[in-house]
Amino acid sequence: MRLVLMGLGVVGKAFLRMLVEKAPELRYKYGLNPTLVAVSDSRSSLYNERGLDPRTVVDWKSRKGSLSGLIDEVDLRGADLVREVEAEVLIEATPSNFRDGEPGLSHIKAALNTGKHVITANKGPLALEMPALIEMFRESGLRLLFSGTVGGGTPFVRFVRSCLIGERVLVIRGVLNGTTNYILTRMEMGISFEEALTEAQRLGYAEADPSNDIDGWDSAAKLVILSNLAMESDVTLREVEVSGIRGVEISRELLSWGKTVRLIASADKSGLRVRPEVVERTDPLAVSGAMNAVSFFTEHSGRHTLVGKGAGGEETATAILRDLVELKMSLSGVSSCS
Ligand SMILES: NC(=O)c1ccc[n+]([C@@H]2O[C@H](COP(=O)([O-])OP(=O)(O)OC[C@H]3O[C@@H](n4cnc5c(N)ncnc54)[C@H](OP(=O)(O)O)[C@@H]3O)[C@@H](O)[C@H]2O)c1
Repeated sequence: MRLVLMGLGVVGKAFLRMLVEKAPELRYKYGLNPTLVAVSDSRSSLYNERGLDPRTVVDWKSRKGSLSGLIDEVDLRGADLVREVEAEVLIEATPSNFRDGEPGLSHIKAALNTGKHVITANKGPLALEMPALIEMFRESGLRLLFSGTVGGGTPFVRFVRSCLIGERVLVIRGVLNGTTNYILTRMEMGISFEEALTEAQRLGYAEADPSNDIDGWDSAAKLVILSNLAMESDVTLREVEVSGIRGVEISRELLSWGKTVRLIASADKSGLRVRPEVVERTDPLAVSGAMNAVSFFTEHSGRHTLVGKGAGGEETATAILRDLVELKMSLSGVSSCS
């Protein structure tokens, strides 16, 4: 299976390292022999139809910060590269952009138009155009897989797709952003929002521009993806009511009543919203630190809650690998959803 990888940051590099480490296991267990034929970061691209060495790519990128200077460097970039390369699968790991979905959206559409399956960790294109993309992929017979977009390596997406078959999800409630959860957990311990944010940035939980996390947009994008999948809705980010955690306070009094505050993303028949909510400290959603948790309230089997690390390069790379194995199995006529 020939792969083109767009984005060689934390997730892209972890994915290539994992391809090297797990090559024997992938071959032996699943008959999967992925070959990286093209890769691109924001400024440079490599292409070799006979295959690139993932280890060399990661080492070079880690040392030089770009792919320039490697023997397989080509002038093609972005959607042109995706269109031109002979490959079966696009792995999309460029930054999530909630304004226009670019550059990921163009990469995904270029893959679709040239007969490539897509595995994406990038949630921007799905948050903005998921219903249309799902429809286009369905019509084309190609697969669009996105386990890594929600929950990092925690299989929220796979849980809905595989384990809730035949069940109806009535309500989703979740803590879907580790950065804000870390900040709220530290605020419970008595430090201010600003101090907690600075600490989160120092520890690498929050980006230099933390607004997508703090203002709730990252949670909203993930909620859109889960809601469309679990509740068969057709929504985009525009339909989510969003408020973040700026200005939130967690009083001693509230804590003494056994309650706290979490940034809750919820979907039910009245709509989708992300907002800080008071929750019981014993609620399964009152997770600590950078953890994520999602509860699916179903018609017949009650409440199911999954808890796990919501982010991380390696964690997200495992989700991409999981999708790759699923793709291989589905192309071979084997269902992984049983
Ligand atoms: N990190 C996580 O824990 C995590 C978890 C779940 C999902 N995700 C999602 O996974 C995606 C990647 O995350 P990340 O943490 O790896 O981000 P990152 O470290 O910022 O890396 C982004 C990569 O995309 C490249 N890029 C930017 N514009 C590009 C373009 N036009 N064409 C090709 N490459 C381009 C960047 O190039 P340069 O190297 O040249 O800057 C960089 O290599 C994001 O959408 C993110 O939301 C991340």
